[in-house]
Amino acid sequence: MPEMRFDGRVAIITGAGGGLGRSHALELARRGGAVLVNDLGGSVDGSGGSSAAQRVVDEITALGGEAVANYDSVATPEGGAAIVQAALDAFGQVDILVNNAGILRDKAFHKMDATMIDAVLDVHLKGALYVGQPAFRLMREKGYGRIINTTSASGLFGNFGQANYGAAKAGLAGLTRVLALEGAGHGIKVNAIAPIAATRMTEDLLGELSARVSPESVSPLVAYLAHQDCAVNGNIYSVAGGRVARIFVAETQGVVLPDITAEAVRDHLTEIDVLDEHGYYHPASLDEETTLIAKALAEAS
Ligand code: NAI
Repeated sequence: MPEMRFDGRVAIITGAGGGLGRSHALELARRGGAVLVNDLGGSVDGSGGSSAAQRVVDEITALGGEAVANYDSVATPEGGAAIVQAALDAFGQVDILVNNAGILRDKAFHKMDATMIDAVLDVHLKGALYVGQPAFRLMREKGYGRIINTTSASGLFGNFGQANYGAAKAGLAGLTRVLALEGAGHGIKVNAIAPIAATRMTEDLLGELSARVSPESVSPLVAYLAHQDCAVNGNIYSVAGGRVARIFVAETQGVVLPDITAEAVRDHLTEIDVLDEHGYYHPASLDEETTLIAKALAEAS
């Protein structure tokens, strides 16, 4: 089978000045793609700025690849438009968008203030909409595109202290499903990853697992989903340390309650809730999912 190449393709990768985004940028550039490396270069909580994006561009060009830095924030409509325009100015087209930029403002919900809610929703969820919309319009006109959103087990399974982040990440799963439907007739495929990787964002959180879950073990899935040959649309994948698993929203068989009352719901709850768990796991939290990933990686080594 031929190598999966990106010659002639242009990718925008947001938040690519470090961590997972840098790794995705290097992977696509190594395979021949031209990359707009977007990152305002702030700290984990989103404050400040730096030239991290240019450092990644320098790494890519030193390896013979093609890349341009961009410092606009994904968190406003103007920023989103400027990011897409920067890719057009540099390379004349946009084929791939990886919505990866992210920040953390963790706090137990009862102590979380409005700025912590707004900042996290603005970067993760609105950022994907603000960059995504001008990119999607171009892709629609051209009849071709690939979008990869970055969701998280935090939003899909739950994680203490991340009401803002989990809500934003679950929103990205919904965005993925909707855009997959809207893009399907126009050659556009939209999928999402829920990664676990050792980056500055997860410093001190992963313990022994951090040695097994490099950003470089996530990016091959992004490359697959970004490629012309990608066979899936609207899917969400858990990816960590080389383990890839599909995450999906499902529904139980349910019951029909013709004379439905609150008491009838109470009395039939077992039938309503019953899961037939064959061939998949149903983690109750990010912690439970991380434990099963660690087990799978340990068993495979
Ligand atoms: P990171 O902190 O190294 O990368 C995030 C990047 O986004 C940073 O370089 C930051 O400067 C950039 N960024 C923040 N706000 C921005 C804005 N307004 N505009 C442009 N760029 C902005 O962290 P990491 O781990 O590489 O995270 C990448 C993505 O993966 C994030 O969306 C994160 O939520 C997600 N993720 C990471 C997990 C992990 O285990 N590392 C787990 C689940 C999701």
